[in-house]
Parts: sequence; C-alpha cells; structure tokens
Amino acid sequence: MADTPTKSATLRIDGEDNAIELPIYSGNLGPDVIDVGKLTGQGYFTYDPGFVSTASCDSEITFIDGDNGVLLHRGYPIEQLAEKSSYLELCYLLLNGELPSKEEGEAFVDTIKHHTMVNEQLRQFFMGFKPDAHPMAILCGVVGALAAFYHDSTDIDNEEHRKITAHRLIAKMPTLAAMSYKHALGQPFIYPRNDLGYAENFLHMMFATPCEDYVVSPTISKAMDRIFLLHADHEQNASTSTVRLAGSTGANPFASIAAGIAALWGPSHGGANEAVLTMLDEIGSVENIPTYIKKAKDKDDPFRIMGFGHRVYKNYDPRAKVMQQTCHEVLEELGVEDDPVLAMAKELEKIALEDDYFVEKRLYPNVDFYSGIILKAIGIPVEMFTVIFATGRTPGWIAHWCEMISGGYKIGRPRQLYKGSIKRDYPG
Ligand code: SDX
Repeated sequence: MADTPTKSATLRIDGEDNAIELPIYSGNLGPDVIDVGKLTGQGYFTYDPGFVSTASCDSEITFIDGDNGVLLHRGYPIEQLAEKSSYLELCYLLLNGELPSKEEGEAFVDTIKHHTMVNEQLRQFFMGFKPDAHPMAILCGVVGALAAFYHDSTDIDNEEHRKITAHRLIAKMPTLAAMSYKHALGQPFIYPRNDLGYAENFLHMMFATPCEDYVVSPTISKAMDRIFLLHADHEQNASTSTVRLAGSTGANPFASIAAGIAALWGPSHGGANEAVLTMLDEIGSVENIPTYIKKAKDKDDPFRIMGFGHRVYKNYDPRAKVMQQTCHEVLEELGVEDDPVLAMAKELEKIALEDDYFVEKRLYPNVDFYSGIILKAIGIPVEMFTVIFATGRTPGWIAHWCEMISGGYKIGRPRQLYKGSIKRDYPG
C-alpha cells in the first residue's frame, strides 16, 4: 500500500462547508495518485468507467509512459531486453525483481524444463473438446482445471507454493498451447524435450510428428522467443487486472490465471492479433485501404483498424517497433519479404499515420499490429495467435498475482452510480 503522502488535494463540494483533504502519494516514476478512500465516509464514490484515471494498486514490476512510448520491466527498457535478453531471463526478472546471475539463470531454465510435462490424465480432458473448438476456449478450461491436479501447491500464503506454481504455469503453458493445436489437427500430442530451448521446444511440440524429425530454424525460434518476450507483461492491462481481481478473493492461482486468459480473448485486448489478420483479409488489397480508413473514421461504423490505438500509448507502442523489425527478419529468412499481407499492413500503417483522424486521436500501431504477420509466416494458424499471447503473458500475470498476494491486499469490490428504479412495492 502507498506510504507517506507527499502533498494533499482539497475537494470542495458545492453547498458543503467542510472541504475534504485527500492525501497524494508519489511513485518513483509516473503520475502522483490521489487517495480517495475516505470519500465513502463522506457519502461519495469516485466515478471512472473503464478505469481511465484509476490506479488500482502499488506495483514495482512494469512502468509504461504512454506519451513517450516507454516500457520498462523492473527498470529495463523493452528495446534493450528484446536485443540482449531472452524470454526465460525476462520471466526470472519479472518474478524476482533482478536479472539472474549466470548460475541463477541456468538453474531457472533447468527448473522450467523439468516442469514442462503435464499430467497424463489431462490428455483425456482435451478429448472432451470437439476438433473445431477454438484453442482459447480449450486453454481457458484446461488452465482452470490445473487446480484439480496440483493440490500440493495451492496454499497461496506459502511462498514456496507460489514459486512452484509460477514455475509450473510458465513451463506448462507452451505444452498446453501446442496440445490445443494438435487436438484441432487430430494429430498426436508431442511431448516436450529437455534438450531444446523454450521457444524451440514450443515450435517442436507444435509442428513435429512421430513420423519424422522436425528441426526448428534458429531464426524462427529466436523470433518466437522475442514474441513471447514482447508479450510478457504490460502493467495493469485488462487481463492482468482480471487476474488481480480474481486473486484478491483468495482464489487459487490457476483459477486466477484462467480468468486472465478469458479476459485476454476479447478483440479489444489480446484477441486483436487474430483480428488484425481477419481485418487484412477483409480489406483484401492495397487499393481497398482508403475505403476502410474511411469506415474506421465513421462514428456510425463499428469498424476499427485492429492493431491500432491503445488506452495508454498515445505514441508508438515500443513493442510494435521491435515486432516490425522481427517481422522483416523472419520474412527475409523465409524468402517471403514481398508477402502481400505485409505489404498491405505497411501501406495501411503509412496511410493511417498520415491521416488527420489518427494523428488527432494519437492512434499508433500497438503490439498486435505486426505480431500476427510474423506468426502467420511461421505457419501458426490465426486461431492460435491469442494463445501465443496468453503463453507469453503468463509470467506477467503470475508476477502480479505473487506481488499482490505477498504484499498485503484487500478483496477488490468496486461500487457504482445507480440509475435503476427507486424502491417500490410488489403489486397486490
Ligand atoms: C492490447 O492495456 C494494455 O496494455 C493492452 C495490451 C497489453 O499488452 O496488455 O497492450 C494489449 O490489448 C493492445 C490493444 C489491442 N486492441 C486493438 O488493437 C483493437 C483496436 N483498438 C481499439 O479498440 C482501441 O484503441 C483500444 C481498445 C485499444 C483502446 O481503447 P480506448 O483507450 O478505450 O480508446 P477509445 O476506444 O475510447 O478510442 C479513443 C478514440 C475513439 O474515438 P472518439 O470516441 O474519441 O471519437 O479513438 C478511436 C475511438 O473511436 N479509436 C479508433 C481506434 N482505436 C480508437 N478508431 C479507429 N481505429 C482504431 N483502432
């Protein structure tokens, strides 16, 4: 919880003599916060639909400066982490607050490797889904069901249990994600392999079959690792806030993460990467882009440019810039740099960024704009895109859950502005 106020705000309300003094707290970076907790006692609630101006908690994990396109994980800029770090090293950083030593990093990688298998009975769970089930529907169900398998680590007040659960979730998500894909194909599940790196192992479980060897290209596995890294955490976004709210009731971490997966699925959030490819497919050609830009600007038309805009970034999403560079590297490696979908995306981005509507509303490409093009080029089907996002975001979700549970918390319980019927008697 916030500590010593650095200044205070005075709230004067029409017709009331006494002003209300509200303490203001300062963080290490970003806006100060006004503590409005005492307003309830004065007969008022704050009103902030969508939590546009609301800080829901203290946190030390990730900082975003939306105006300047800055994203820091435990103080390290995302651009430097993308260039110099790896996904599992970032997982360690998010969970522990510091980069690992060489020995700590190796031990962490080894621990994760030895948690990648899932209980064999979970295979039956998958059999209950029809082959055409959306893999996000499967992932929501299976991750929530993990609580039925791990009774040995569900004491949320036990630090060792929280640590084991964090390792299990980070390790098992790629396995469950690949199983969701294989189930849809009707192909046998491929077991994880401890001789492969994290991203390489995921791609092997996705694309290998028992019939022949499958060797993952180093460029492709590096791109996959970077995609996971770029999705690892993002402050108090909708799905992370969902994990915190679910966790604030004392629900087990598997249930809380499953709630986060469900929230991520929406096209305004993690579902946008799938929606970008669907949108580009609907636009169909560069020639049609002006028509769709016009639709996006029409208040009466629900169409939006998916992968554009952000609640916090009113500048380029720094992850989008790294993703764009990765996109070029992957398509060049695959010899498809003249991919028509990429050409359309680049033209759409160029036209939108020059259009007054997008400039005035400060709408820029976000993390989802280019990720789908890379995933499509790697051969990952569109319906798996948000599953990839969920896999990448797992360390962020679990780091925020651990920070909340270990740091003292209250059950989240917002109030409302009631506009319904006043009290009335039942007729008769
Ligand atoms: C993610 O929060 C996070 O950190 C999320 C995330 C993470 O890592 O966790 O970064 C991941 O979810 C990225 C966002 C992915 N979603 C999309 O790409 C979907 C398209 N984007 C929009 O739906 C929208 O920009 C949101 C949902 C992302 C943000 O919505 P806000 O902050 O509520 O802003 P808004 O919808 O009120 O838009 C402000 C204005 C509106 O016009 P006015 O009502 O002011 O006239 O901009 C317009 C909107 O109509 N607008 C768009 C637009 N996005 C916003 N117009 C056309 N195309 C768009 N993409």
